[in-house]
Amino acid sequence: MKLKKLYLGTNLKMYKTISETGDFLKRLIRNTKPYQGDTAELFVIPSYTSLPMAMELTGNTAIKIGAQNMSWEEEGPFTGEISPRMLEEIGVGLVMVGHSERRHVFHETDEEENRKVLCAVKHGLTVLLCVGETGADKEAAVSGQVLEIQLKKGLKSISVSQVPQLWVAYEPVWAIGKNGIPASAEYAQHNHLIIKKCLTEMFGNQAMSIPVLYGGSVNFDNSGSFILQPDIDGLFIGRSAWDADSFARILVRVRKMVQIEDK
Ligand code: PGA
Repeated sequence: MKLKKLYLGTNLKMYKTISETGDFLKRLIRNTKPYQGDTAELFVIPSYTSLPMAMELTGNTAIKIGAQNMSWEEEGPFTGEISPRMLEEIGVGLVMVGHSERRHVFHETDEEENRKVLCAVKHGLTVLLCVGETGADKEAAVSGQVLEIQLKKGLKSISVSQVPQLWVAYEPVWAIGKNGIPASAEYAQHNHLIIKKCLTEMFGNQAMSIPVLYGGSVNFDNSGSFILQPDIDGLFIGRSAWDADSFARILVRVRKMVQIEDK
């Protein structure tokens, strides 16, 4: 048993429409009701179009709603982009930056992620910065260096006072999605430690308050082994959490493994 605050969330990517997200959330709210008084931090990151509805549905619950991406500018000639002001307007307090699909399908760079992080933090949003090495990085045995570069560039110019607004997700690119192979719990722990050391180098002791979540083919069966690792503070789940019953089953499982902190 270990005592820790637990983070558990899902990114719905481009899979659920507004009505599908609504059905998912209603069921998730019902399924997770018994656990909403504790400090397990539950979050769901739906499509942009679902955000206002999701905010309304979860208003009286402990489920946090996040956006999948954000512009690095607050306004301007950026057709197709969503600014932090637009997220603030509907009360969204969490934004994901640098998901592997943004980096590898849309070719976003660490410099761009950094501009988004700085803009989000300036607007009072909590940022979930995703980092992770590719399969080629892993083969070349440079995973640690790649993670350090992504953190140092992605969080450049963030001050210690802004650290409470940071969450990090470690998601090896080769572990994500239907062709992904989940990392072993030991491999994930090894890299979580590298991430925490790097954050401590950057922000001192304050860095220990930054939750670092593991993501990449997490499912019911492997969830327990990840959450038992000393430097894994939570799980960031795709496919295995898109059914609200499965999400709740994983929550019940990981709650049993860790002793949740008192509020
Ligand atoms: P997966 O997705 O759990 O379906 O591998 C994880 C992610 O993309 O964050």
